[in-house]
Amino acid sequence: MIVALNNKSNLSKEEFITYQEKLGKLETNSKMIVCPTFLNINLWQPNKIFLGAQNVSTENEGAFTGEVSAIDLKASGVEYCIIGHSERREYQKESLEGIHKKLMKLLENEITPILCIGETKEEREEKKVEQVLKEELKTAIDTLTEEEKAKIIVAYEPIWSIGTGIIPTMEEIEEVFRFIKQILPNSSILYGGSANEKNIDLLKTVSLIDGYLLGGLSLKPEELQIFLKKLDGRE
Ligand code: 13P
Repeated sequence: MIVALNNKSNLSKEEFITYQEKLGKLETNSKMIVCPTFLNINLWQPNKIFLGAQNVSTENEGAFTGEVSAIDLKASGVEYCIIGHSERREYQKESLEGIHKKLMKLLENEITPILCIGETKEEREEKKVEQVLKEELKTAIDTLTEEEKAKIIVAYEPIWSIGTGIIPTMEEIEEVFRFIKQILPNSSILYGGSANEKNIDLLKTVSLIDGYLLGGLSLKPEELQIFLKKLDGRE
């Protein structure tokens, strides 16, 4: 299993130092990836947890004020990078084309992309889930070779589930995962959206899930430890 932690815009420098000590002590059989803020990335002390970022520039260098390139991420030890998170698609107005460019820059610099896709509540109600996911996926992976496609991690995060405490039914998750696997049969697929230590027993029943992308829970190492133990079937 893969468990990726999206800290979003949380944890001050001081908080992050204590946080990483706690993360280092977590017991788990899962492959863990932590995605801190850009500034906290450089505080990371290498350990058994892999380092990720939450965003990347569409360009390698140049006049792009405020952007951080894949080259610089790589030089700071970053091995994974979230792209296309719904918060960035909405608040930063990220385009499908921009997400494709970011994905290409990551692959070029040997950083594994964690591509987020997901539908809004309205899109689900209007039965447009597959249409939305297909567009988000196909535009992102356009021009990729089969070998490159296999390197991508996809995170299915229904937007209406992020931070709300509401998760889809297991049948809904299964249906979506089957759909994504048809397009990307060799990629790992994570579930994200209000996954926590209380619903992990239920989520675990979906055999197609290769791991999780955690937001709120990523900030609570004690609860995260319970989640990880349940995931391993140790509690
Ligand atoms: P929550 O786990 O807080 O719902 O956030 C999920 C998420 O957006 C991870 O990228």
